Amino acid sequence: MKRIGILTAGGDTPAMNATIHGAVVRANQLRIEIFGLIKGFNSLFNPRVPHVLLNPLYQEIPEIDPTKGGTMIGSSRDYVDPEKKDELDTIASRLHKLGIEGLICVGGDGTLNGLQPLAERLPTVLAPKTIDNDLGLNYPDEPDEWVRVNDPAAKGGFRYEKRDSKPVFDLNYIVNYATPGYATAVFVSASGVERIRTTAESHRRIAIIEVMGRHSGYIALGSAYGRPDIILVPEHPLDLEHIVERVKHIYDLQKNVVIVCGEGIVDDKGRELGAETKSTDPAGNVALSGAAEALRHKLITMIGDRYFQLYRRGNSAREAIFTRKVGHTQRGGRPILFDRFYAAQLGAKAVELLLEGRNNAVATLQYDSKKGFEVSGYEASRFRDRWGYIHARRLYPMLYDPKVLKPSRLGIDYLLPIFTDAIGDDDMEHLRRTLFAVGNLVQPYHSINTDVNKRIRYLKTEE
Ligand code: F6P
Repeated sequence: MKRIGILTAGGDTPAMNATIHGAVVRANQLRIEIFGLIKGFNSLFNPRVPHVLLNPLYQEIPEIDPTKGGTMIGSSRDYVDPEKKDELDTIASRLHKLGIEGLICVGGDGTLNGLQPLAERLPTVLAPKTIDNDLGLNYPDEPDEWVRVNDPAAKGGFRYEKRDSKPVFDLNYIVNYATPGYATAVFVSASGVERIRTTAESHRRIAIIEVMGRHSGYIALGSAYGRPDIILVPEHPLDLEHIVERVKHIYDLQKNVVIVCGEGIVDDKGRELGAETKSTDPAGNVALSGAAEALRHKLITMIGDRYFQLYRRGNSAREAIFTRKVGHTQRGGRPILFDRFYAAQLGAKAVELLLEGRNNAVATLQYDSKKGFEVSGYEASRFRDRWGYIHARRLYPMLYDPKVLKPSRLGIDYLLPIFTDAIGDDDMEHLRRTLFAVGNLVQPYHSINTDVNKRIRYLKTEE
């Protein structure tokens, strides 16, 4: 292979530039040209295929900065539709005209679902990214546990349900232990929880902090590092009576409570609390919001004003219970060391997979309790259920303890290898040196897009 392409698709993460960097460094060593396709699949739907040569003369262009969040080649939520064969053929012919012999998609489960039709046309591999940590398998046979259930109300007349086979769970068998972006999202969320705590403490309040993750509770689980009192994850339907009992117990003791909830939490009937504002992106992902606010309303009703008045801790439940979303801050900014390091390795591995002649494969981060982390390659088809669908990974239920509403011992064991040394000395030093730099006050922000724009080339042959 002499030339390959790379694109970044879906919601961004802080570690995408690190993946691009890793891929380019490896491509340089192997004397391969690498084209960055602008704005994910969007570039391939454009007949001019905007792109940037990332390594002229096998030297990385200076705009690639693995310590900078986001993606310097842009991302979009456009995805290929496996049913649109003509569109896929057009995309393949555009890539062929550009001389691209293999493609790396940096993406999540939405991108992986669309990988096969592309792989039928040119060698294509995936380098994972997602703050949700939902691209992977808790154990290799997990896809076989999904079944289709008839549901006239659902799209297509059916929905998927997971039957639990209760395997002997072992951290060493997790496929893709953690995805680039997850560690930084947890870092931001846990820091936010710590900060909310002291203000809740001062004002005798109950804080509900909503974190991202869609239907997967990994970010919520990791927020345990910020020491919230209660964590609620989408994989365990809410037992409101039990939650209220815990809230009152903790509030009686310390006059403040901090609750973290994943945005996809569900009630005892499996209905999403934040579903009222749901919408879908082109990959069919549900955008959730409002879970914390919905939970707040339930707590206000169940705890009532009198409880707060009795203790002289506020006039009303409405006043005492407040919500905050960590929001997109958990998806942006400088990636912490764990993310940078492994994102770069996964980018490099994706290049190697293409060179080894692998197609329709995924670069994964594997964990071994004796050896630590290492990158590997995994067939994309092994992520598919028997109908060919790839499901977002949910938190393995036993990582969470529904009684104490916190990570279980197994959950703690899961988190430790990722986070124990996740922050580099330079991460803190960078903050110390840059945040209050005088230049920040006098120089306007200079966007990377301005520089990359100057390097964009287009496919000359018009169709
Ligand atoms: O999948 C990543 C993610 O950040 C989710 O956690 C969240 O639900 C969603 O994307 C938000 O998407 P958007 O940025 O398009 O609002």
